[in-house]
Amino acid sequence: MKTYVVTGGAGFIGSNYIHYMFKKYGKEGAIKIINVDKLTYAGNLENLKGLEDCPYYSFVKADICDKDAITKIFEENDIDRVVHFAAESHVDRSIKDPEVFVRTNVLGTANMLNCAKAAWEQADGTYPEGKKFLHVSTDEVYGSLPDDDNAFFYETTKYDPHSPYSASKAGSDMLVKAYMDTYKFPANITNCSNNYGPFQFPEKLIPLIINNALQGKKLPVYGDGKNVRDWLYVEDHAKAIDMVQEKGRLFETYNVGGHNEKQNIQIIEIILETLQEMLSDDDPRKAHVSRDLITYVEDRKGHDRRYAIAPDKIKSEIGWEPETMFKEGIKLTIKWFFENEEWMKNVTSGDYQKYYDDMYSNK
Ligand code: NAD
Ligand code: DAU
Repeated sequence: MKTYVVTGGAGFIGSNYIHYMFKKYGKEGAIKIINVDKLTYAGNLENLKGLEDCPYYSFVKADICDKDAITKIFEENDIDRVVHFAAESHVDRSIKDPEVFVRTNVLGTANMLNCAKAAWEQADGTYPEGKKFLHVSTDEVYGSLPDDDNAFFYETTKYDPHSPYSASKAGSDMLVKAYMDTYKFPANITNCSNNYGPFQFPEKLIPLIINNALQGKKLPVYGDGKNVRDWLYVEDHAKAIDMVQEKGRLFETYNVGGHNEKQNIQIIEIILETLQEMLSDDDPRKAHVSRDLITYVEDRKGHDRRYAIAPDKIKSEIGWEPETMFKEGIKLTIKWFFENEEWMKNVTSGDYQKYYDDMYSNK
């Protein structure tokens, strides 16, 4: 049995990853997952519904910056893998309040590295076979590409972060690189493009547009709406992370991307068209799902123009490729939001804290 510590497993990608892993490896003991999450506004245990009774899944409420709490997890368990998702993840929040991004993303990563190193390092400075720390990072560390279809981010692209969020993620990547170079610490870094899918917090473009359109609220478009992002369905990202752990060469970085570049305004139009297709004629929401809701607003400060990943290395070395076409992924996402209206209500009202209290009060 392999034992995983997953940080940030109550967030969007972390929770999808945990579900993916139990779907792939089963709930019979091939893997054990310890989900370590502070449950900030973005962490929601409702995302892990269905796993509460699985003996191979457990949850520890802890801050990744807390040395004692993280050390205790390593002391009490023989951890094989760390998959490090926990972070402050929203660019707009980082522009308003950068400090917590430095604390969690930089200092929290340093603490995770230190605790894993202390637990894993042998007397001769080597590490037992099979131990691995996977640091989940972002394509935003590479900066911004021009409006030119031929330019892509490669693993060799120079870091050039612009927002406090991407600067803090770049800092965390550099720490992981330093541990690999200095201590031969067994790690990989993945730099992924924009994810979308179930459980995404509605501060991010796609769930925000779906939620607002269904409620007949304005759809805010920053600047001219022509900024480009490379969208990847979240389950494809989860699969990539698993494959990098199993097949990735130690100390390597792998870029993960969807080969699916779209302008923000195109994304909004596709969502509106898909909602129109999927809503039944007698659904009262169908009447207000329209382009009239699109509202151009002030641009994001320092707004990166275009991101585009070249996922050539992960394809040739590991055999990973994006599988979910955007048209299909967006339908799956909208269907999920239709079926989980209560989730959206709870998330937007902060009631998921109540879910946590109800679920875990007697444990
Ligand atoms: P998210 O904001 O949805 O989830 C973050 C999780 O981390 C939450 O559960 C939160 O409670 C937890 N957390 C925050 N601070 C913590 C702390 N101090 N201690 C313990 N837990 C803490 O984020 P996400 O979108 O799921 O992103 C996960 C990771 O993937 C991040 O590292 C992010 O940089 C990276 N990433 C995200 C995307 C994307 O499109 N969302 C793309 C590429 C990379
Ligand atoms: O590229 C990977 C990154 O993708 C991750 O590292 C981040 O954690 C994740 O949040 C995401 O960052 P973005 O800033 O690209 O995502 P966001 O959904 O916030 O915005 C996507 C694009 O849409 C961006 O160009 C800004 C624009 N936008 C966003 C919002 C919330 C709007 O036009 N209107 C909006 O209301």
